[in-house]
Amino acid sequence: MYVRLKQFVFAIVVVAVTAMAALAAFAWSGVYDIGADDPHSKPVLGLLALVRDRSVGAQAASIAVPADLASEARIRQGAGNYDAMCSTCHLAPGLGDSELNRGLYPAPPRLDKMKVEPAQAFWVVKHGIKASGMPAWGKSMGDEYIWNMVAFLGALPAFDADKYRALVAESGGHSHGGAEPDDHGDAHDHDDASQHEGAAAGGASPDVPGAATDAVAVVDAFGAALVAGELAKVKAFLDPAVVVLETGGAERSRDEYMDHHAEADAKFLHGAHVRKTRRIARASGDAAWVATESVIHAHGSKPVTLLSTETMVLAKKAGQWRITHIHWSSREQ
Ligand code: HEC
Repeated sequence: MYVRLKQFVFAIVVVAVTAMAALAAFAWSGVYDIGADDPHSKPVLGLLALVRDRSVGAQAASIAVPADLASEARIRQGAGNYDAMCSTCHLAPGLGDSELNRGLYPAPPRLDKMKVEPAQAFWVVKHGIKASGMPAWGKSMGDEYIWNMVAFLGALPAFDADKYRALVAESGGHSHGGAEPDDHGDAHDHDDASQHEGAAAGGASPDVPGAATDAVAVVDAFGAALVAGELAKVKAFLDPAVVVLETGGAERSRDEYMDHHAEADAKFLHGAHVRKTRRIARASGDAAWVATESVIHAHGSKPVTLLSTETMVLAKKAGQWRITHIHWSSREQ
């Protein structure tokens, strides 16, 4: 019995070593065609898909999806980033084939024609997929911006080309609180090559260090909610004890602001085009501040262009950034 077991183990070792040697010889020989234009065989393709799907499923299983994922402000903010960062590979409504979409293998799926599972999409966007063209955007995007992107992906299949372009134009362009280069407020700056280099370079900028990106995302979502007139959302970003200073006046609590100026601010900003020209932010522990300069084209009763400066102070409470102080000042250009 003992001798038989020994022979059996020996046989297994011989088979394993032979298989490894064969694999090494195959790899060394260069016979394998590594070209992206030579598709995998069906079994290999099946195996790779299985590994990808099981891995993403397991890794994403414990991710909690934000309750307000269907919010218009999130979807709108995600639109500009999708157009700048994703559409060359994944295409978009009204966009024809691109060179990257045609040439990549595995091919990037058309995200405007498929439904994504939110937690899994969040994980894939943040971490990317090895040995495919899908980058790990978490190296340059804060989590809040990735959720805004996931919110946008959830809504995308329902958009036609006109709706898509309109959302991109309203979105405040390519902005995700860190790695994008300086003046990217305008969604139409597409021919600016540096825009894409900046996004690809990764890492936070000195003006907006990584620690501040989530606070910056809250400031952007607050601004987008105000422009969209979503006052419940506006309120949710404010600390109950917020102090708001604007045009020489003061409001000393969230209720006071919501009862007085919030509606007028939303009305003034309704449909306005806000182009951020400069942003500096700092965060340390549970405190952050975000200073933003922008040019606002509003067309309320009469068209007006304002140069606006804004300071927001934020505090992190129970893991969430909330705005505790706002100072707005502006003048006509
Ligand atoms: C350079 C090309 C490229 C860019 C840019 C890119 N992707 Fe991808 N993406 C891919 C490829 C290729 C895959 C498929 C990978 C695979 O199946 O192994 C993929 C897969 C995905 C998936 C998974 C889809 C599924 O099958 O469930 C999501 C979600 C996704 N990308 C979102 C994004 C978002 C959002 C952006 C922009 C922030 C983006 N991608 C930018 C190439 C790209």
